[in-house]
Amino acid sequence: MILVTGGAGFIGANFVLDWLAQSDEALLNLDKLSYAGNRENLASLTNDPRHLFVHGDIGDSELTDRLLAQYQPRAILNFAAESHVDRSIHGPEDFIQTNIVGTFHLLEAVRAYWNGLPDEARRGFRFLQVSTDEVYGSLSRDEPAFSETHRYEPNSPYSASKAASDHLVRAYHHTYGLPVLTTNCSNNYGPYHFPEKLIPLIIVNALAGKPLPIYGDGQQIRDWLYVKDHCSAIRRVLDAGRPGETYNIGGWNEKTNLDIVHTVCALLDEISPRADGKPYHEQIRYVTDRPGHDRRYAIDARKIERELGWKPAETFDTGIRKTVQWYLQNQDWVRHVQSGAYRDWVEKNYGERQP
Ligand code: NAD
Ligand code: DAU
Repeated sequence: MILVTGGAGFIGANFVLDWLAQSDEALLNLDKLSYAGNRENLASLTNDPRHLFVHGDIGDSELTDRLLAQYQPRAILNFAAESHVDRSIHGPEDFIQTNIVGTFHLLEAVRAYWNGLPDEARRGFRFLQVSTDEVYGSLSRDEPAFSETHRYEPNSPYSASKAASDHLVRAYHHTYGLPVLTTNCSNNYGPYHFPEKLIPLIIVNALAGKPLPIYGDGQQIRDWLYVKDHCSAIRRVLDAGRPGETYNIGGWNEKTNLDIVHTVCALLDEISPRADGKPYHEQIRYVTDRPGHDRRYAIDARKIERELGWKPAETFDTGIRKTVQWYLQNQDWVRHVQSGAYRDWVEKNYGERQP
């Protein structure tokens, strides 16, 4: 079996669902169920004996030691993290605890477990670190996209904590020989995306008749990848990636934030028009920028294509249409995640931003 951490979050849950749709290999899912973890994402697996869910923290060494000894996974995929840049600005401590300290404790447990494996299992074992393009910092408009050799230059507490955990993973390979793989991916979007992030926030606010907040001038650029393409890339790296290597994953879809918001508004105008017949883009509001806001991310994904034959299956047009449709068809899910804690966050993050 494999062990997935953070498998109740956005990307983790998509990965778990896709894994079990394509393979009969069992999956142990270790998740702390932070505000971003949601068992409803995995509701379709309730009676599936291949999915074992454990509520716990990657930093709890006693628990991870026990799980590793009991279930003997052949691979560990580390999705668990605090993942939202704005939350890292308001309160970095959880990011340090989970992304750095938690990953360190997990690596220690894994190192002890891996050392005790018989030779063949030791050779076949993999630890895959799911990371982000944000560790590379920010690009100007005409700089080339990030390659795997681009220096790490993180700018937010979130990206700094991810960079630190990537460095630990790298060091465990270099020093102890642990067979690790690291993936650095661009912005994901798709089903089960928590509506604190740009695309789902815009969809749910638009439908609720609320303002669509654009930080600063809206000209920041991100590369966007449909989440299921990220999952297929991770499966490919797990199968065929070379230990100690890193692989950039991206969608070749660089867009400004303003473009993204206009695209979502236009799709909603087509699929679920406003009752008053007016366009959704009238709800756009420019608000105070994110401190330290990175201007542009862009991923050079040629290595994974050349070495492992992976390419995204979705274009932005097909992926964003599926995403908008998913949110329209899953209004109950949206209602359930908009708890009191979600409303408190919205007040904290947007209450102080000047229009
Ligand atoms: P998310 O915030 O939606 O989910 C994170 C999950 O991790 C949640 O289920 C949460 O409960 C769990 N978790 C948090 N702390 C934990 C802990 N200490 N122990 C166990 N579980 C814990 O995040 P996401 O967007 O799904 O991102 C998953 C991973 O992918 C992260 O490592 C993130 O850095 C990386 N990543 C995300 C994106 C993106 O666009 N969302 C892009 C590239 C890389
Ligand atoms: O690049 C990969 C990263 O993408 C991941 O590592 C992170 O976990 C993930 O959250 C995401 O980070 P971003 O900061 O790029 O995503 P977010 O959705 O928060 O913001 C996308 C862009 O939209 C960013 O430039 C900020 C802007 N934005 C965001 C929000 C929430 C707005 O203009 N208004 C908003 O209300």
